[in-house]
Amino acid sequence: MPVSIGIHDLSFATAEFVLSHAALAEHNGTDIGKYHVGIGQESMSVPAADEDIVTMAAAAAAPLVARHGTSRIRTVVFATESSIDQAKAAGVYVHSLLGLESACRVVELKQACYGATAALQFAIGLVRRDPAQQVLVIASDISKYELDSPGEATQGAAAVAMLVGADPALLRIEDPSGLFTADVMDFWRPNYRETALVDGQESINAYLQAVEGAWKDYAQQDGRPLGEFAAFVYHQPFTKMAYKAHRHLLNFCGHATDEDAVARALGRTTAYNTVIGNSYTASVYLGLAALLDQADDLTGRAVGFLSYGSGSVAELFAGTVVAGYRERLRTGANREAIDRRRPVDYAGYRELHERSLPADGGDHSTPVQTTGPFRLAGISGHKRLYEAR
Ligand code: CAA
Repeated sequence: MPVSIGIHDLSFATAEFVLSHAALAEHNGTDIGKYHVGIGQESMSVPAADEDIVTMAAAAAAPLVARHGTSRIRTVVFATESSIDQAKAAGVYVHSLLGLESACRVVELKQACYGATAALQFAIGLVRRDPAQQVLVIASDISKYELDSPGEATQGAAAVAMLVGADPALLRIEDPSGLFTADVMDFWRPNYRETALVDGQESINAYLQAVEGAWKDYAQQDGRPLGEFAAFVYHQPFTKMAYKAHRHLLNFCGHATDEDAVARALGRTTAYNTVIGNSYTASVYLGLAALLDQADDLTGRAVGFLSYGSGSVAELFAGTVVAGYRERLRTGANREAIDRRRPVDYAGYRELHERSLPADGGDHSTPVQTTGPFRLAGISGHKRLYEAR
């Protein structure tokens, strides 16, 4: 009998500070309805000066290591589009901070917000080859746009860590996947830039085309019919995008697009993204965390995933929720990761936004700001120095 493989455990972390959209709207004179209703966002996580993708990733993964130990983790796949080095994988720092075994492979993956789904699918392949091993998949990103640009209201930051293994306790990932790739310039960040470039409307259109393309392939591969899904978890650059995408899918499949049906499929998937903002690779899996934490019992039900990464690549696949999953959830800790953030006013946010590490890599000590378990202490001799607190 084939082994069932999927997500055995999931934990997330976000940043130290939070900026409300009310504060942003007051600064730029935007009607708050545009943020709360138009894009569906209430606040955004803002990293402290001594936080980055590594500190968030280690904070997300530490509870998995505490619960399951390190002995079966033989691979770490770190997905990000906020990479800190052109050569060294950010996961190697996490491997060190968490004291993982030396008998382990560590690698970084990139394709915009889609990267973590590639990591998950590659992890499934590795576990299929050796069902005794577990793969630690980490998605960690900081979404940063120019100040006063249209993208600014969709910023955010978070990391999700998932333990992928055989006989999973949360979600079995199914075959087939529906795949789609198209060469488009909807959103990108050249190596010399800290902030992303984006063509807003083009990016929305590209996302919708990718939904359509991935679904077409999924149907051709004999995937489940639309009616079998209890919920759909979409990549959420802003939560209203999930609604646009699902309406588009229903239309494309010739289903009625009544708002009750859309709300039933998506309603429980947006709570964390609404208050955290875009976390790129982590976003779709924050959607899964919210769904599992908040929905009525989903045991045995199929959940659809649509992972989109600008540029663009998309994948649509299904997972089945495993009996007993509710005993393994981290609902309290997830709420705490959000509630522990310290509010920052617009001026404080702007200062953090404008701050960057010295471009020439010169020696630098970062101020102590984070109250999280790991911090970036500074840079010395072009080397990033991390510490556990
Ligand atoms: N009350 C209620 N709603 C209001 C309103 C008000 N007072 N004022 C405006 N709105 C509505 C608008 O009608 C619009 O709704 P619809 O899209 O349903 O028509 C919505 O608020 C947004 O308004 P605009 O389109 O005028 O907003 P904008 O020009 O400022 O840009 C954006 C919006 C394009 C999403 C911009 O925030 C952006 O560029 N974001 C970054 C790119 C992005 O997230 N793209 C998503 C797809 S790409 C992707 O998914 C990858 C990724 O992670 C980046």
